Amino acid sequence: MSKRQKLMVGNWKMNGSLAANASLVAELLQGMAEVYCHAAVCVPSVYLSQLQTLLAGSELALGAQDVSPHESGAYTGEVSASMLKDFGVRYCILGHSERRRDHSESDALVALKAQRALAGGITPIVCVGESLAEREAGETEAVVKRQLAALIQVNGHCISEIVVAYEPVWAIGTGLTAKPEQAQAVHAVLRAQLQAASPHADRVSILYGGSMNAANAATLLDQPDVDGGLIGGAALKAPDFLTMLKAASR
Ligand code: 13P
Repeated sequence: MSKRQKLMVGNWKMNGSLAANASLVAELLQGMAEVYCHAAVCVPSVYLSQLQTLLAGSELALGAQDVSPHESGAYTGEVSASMLKDFGVRYCILGHSERRRDHSESDALVALKAQRALAGGITPIVCVGESLAEREAGETEAVVKRQLAALIQVNGHCISEIVVAYEPVWAIGTGLTAKPEQAQAVHAVLRAQLQAASPHADRVSILYGGSMNAANAATLLDQPDVDGGLIGGAALKAPDFLTMLKAASR
């Protein structure tokens, strides 16, 4: 088993409302007694203020879903790292495949965003992962290595402060989960690449994401290089997310 304490992160994506958030968080906080892993929820930025209040004094950390690569200035629609920090944000998902796809985010841009988040005292959760076509073409390793290399190139000196999330694109929201051994194989590739870049690579948490749910979380989390989960749909259901948090607390 790994020495790294597990980290379980809910990615709410573009879901929620003031009322729904309040009841989801109330239910989660009620069930946290037997949770001993690190846990966070990454919420739409308009709800950060609400969540900062709801989560105050709790064991559930607050996260965002993106950050600007710029410090401040004329960047309409963007949110800076210092703004996130103002609302108690601890984690920020970066380079999610939905942003790479819908906003043409490149590996280089994602690396810059990670640098900006780190400078602002926020832990980046940087997503990597291959599409179905890339997997079928035998390119999985090359794709995730390219994505991670860009991150290391810019942030190598502080790589131990970054969280990496392996999210095979074909497994996101599809109900198709990577088999535990498939996930472990890619996590091991990422770990080896981190080890080649930094003496602190063993401290880097590598999360798995993609249709992780209450039924399959435990076997995925049992893999030696799976240090937690990045969970979409199942994180919106309090009983399911709590079951997964408990699976990560064993
Ligand atoms: P699902 O858990 O809904 O497949 O989403 C995974 C994900 O994209 C988390 O960032």
